[in-house]
Amino acid sequence: MAEASGRDLAAAWAAVERLARSPRADGSAPASIRPLFAADPDRFARFSWSADGLLLDLSKTALDAEALAALLALARAADLAGRRDAMARGEAINATERRAVLHLALRAPPEAGFRAGAEDAAAEVAEVLARMREFCAGVHGGAIRGATGERFTDVVNIGIGGSDLGPAMVTRALWTPGCPLRAHYLGNVDAHAWEALRPKLDPARTLVLVASKTFTTQETMTNAALVRGWLREALGQGGEEGAGRHLAALSTNLKATAEFGIAPERVFPFRDWVGGRFSLWSAIGLSIALALGWEAFTRLLAGARAMDEHFLAMPLERNLPVLLALAEVWHVNGLGYPARAVLPYDQRLARLPAHLQQVEMESLGKRVTLDGAPVGRATGPVVFGEPGTDAQHSFMQLIHQGTTPVPCDIILVARPDHGHADSHRKLLANGLAQAEALMRGKDAAAVEAEMQAAGTDPAGIARLLPHRVFPGDRPSAAILLPHLDPFTLGQLVALYEHKVFSLGALWGINAFDQWGVELGKQLAGPILRALEAGAPKQGTHDGSTEGLLRAICRAWSA
Ligand code: F6P
Repeated sequence: MAEASGRDLAAAWAAVERLARSPRADGSAPASIRPLFAADPDRFARFSWSADGLLLDLSKTALDAEALAALLALARAADLAGRRDAMARGEAINATERRAVLHLALRAPPEAGFRAGAEDAAAEVAEVLARMREFCAGVHGGAIRGATGERFTDVVNIGIGGSDLGPAMVTRALWTPGCPLRAHYLGNVDAHAWEALRPKLDPARTLVLVASKTFTTQETMTNAALVRGWLREALGQGGEEGAGRHLAALSTNLKATAEFGIAPERVFPFRDWVGGRFSLWSAIGLSIALALGWEAFTRLLAGARAMDEHFLAMPLERNLPVLLALAEVWHVNGLGYPARAVLPYDQRLARLPAHLQQVEMESLGKRVTLDGAPVGRATGPVVFGEPGTDAQHSFMQLIHQGTTPVPCDIILVARPDHGHADSHRKLLANGLAQAEALMRGKDAAAVEAEMQAAGTDPAGIARLLPHRVFPGDRPSAAILLPHLDPFTLGQLVALYEHKVFSLGALWGINAFDQWGVELGKQLAGPILRALEAGAPKQGTHDGSTEGLLRAICRAWSA
């Protein structure tokens, strides 16, 4: 049976790869997009889908009906739906860590009944959410105050990676001056970050959350110690006990939070079935709830839940995360495009690319399948991005005229939250124009006509023409939100999370571990000791590392 399904999967991959290599029936190249619009005036209707108001348009990709059918067959052969359902049943699909993957449970109502093996995940989630809500009410209402009796005005989240990027992205997107607290995020172990933040804070009014799934991460524990020291010093008499009133922990490691001195009632736990990069919906999201208010946090969860329900129930051919994943397979494996750009045309989403970099690259940067065999084909692409229009004045040149196409996700928000209609129209016009330009390109004849009309002489035309040609047929996916609010942001982030799940299933890799971050952490230990000693031990490191260590130590003593 397994052999038969292995054969089906190999055949499905072969069919996709064959289509991506062969001209279409009309003779057009499999990577071309323009002929698809010429042949099908209804292409937009056929290749765009929506879920609860969020619209996904894949019509400006080279997918045609035949390619999409082959990709859907691949999804079936890879048992994508079966794997999705196994995740929702709380099976230990994160096989290398023997863990369930249940961020779905974090945004589900208790009656959804999620379980992680024998554990009642739904009850656990409900209990922690109730505690978070009570804590937020206490802080917002003034019942919970700092050591000197002041109300909290600022919350600092100390965490890194998944314990930082998601909450930082969300508060950056949704915070407005009327919100209950200001939020700040301290991630990097580089103390310049703390030095830059410190003058903005009044210790008497600052609440500090130490956010770490493991509560062992070097950067977070170093920053937590720095900030706790600042609190103790600033709060003067009774500093230690006083500092405790300014601290809370968000973690799965209750032993370590106790050792750090955080009172149990100030610890908001979550379980090992919440992956770091999928944790913004858990206790790790406490800074979101504190900064934006409880209602906003629950709307964020509701938006994610709406996308979960769509992902769990919708047939594959209308399932947005699945379709987005299939487009990625077409780009990465079919057409050989190794990178993708995320371009939110909304400044409030400026940190979305950073969040997606972790969600996608930490999940999909894998080279072996679940059973340890080489994957044998490309997996996760490089993901990068910036808000539009800034990106247009930075790296879009390469995307328009570089040698290798870079598919783009163009994220548009129809209605702004300001009254400057002219600015917003220009923003949207630019986003749409980038996608149009990438697809349409500009051929030599058009460039020549344009230059002739501008009065350029033939020699000038000949000299500049190759530089002014755009190849076109460069793909983009558009995602249109009617408005940016907690609900739609929840939908958007969950869309990408499920896309990542789907790609993991299609490539047969474990999207939920991250062994690749370990080696650097291990090697940092002996290097740190060499720096502490002020000199490397000869022969302990490679020549380059040793040379650099010596140069640093010389600079210190200069
Ligand atoms: O180093 C990678 C990583 O383990 C991420 O997966 C995680 O989000 C981040 O570090 C932070 O880990 P923690 O929440 O345990 O401090």
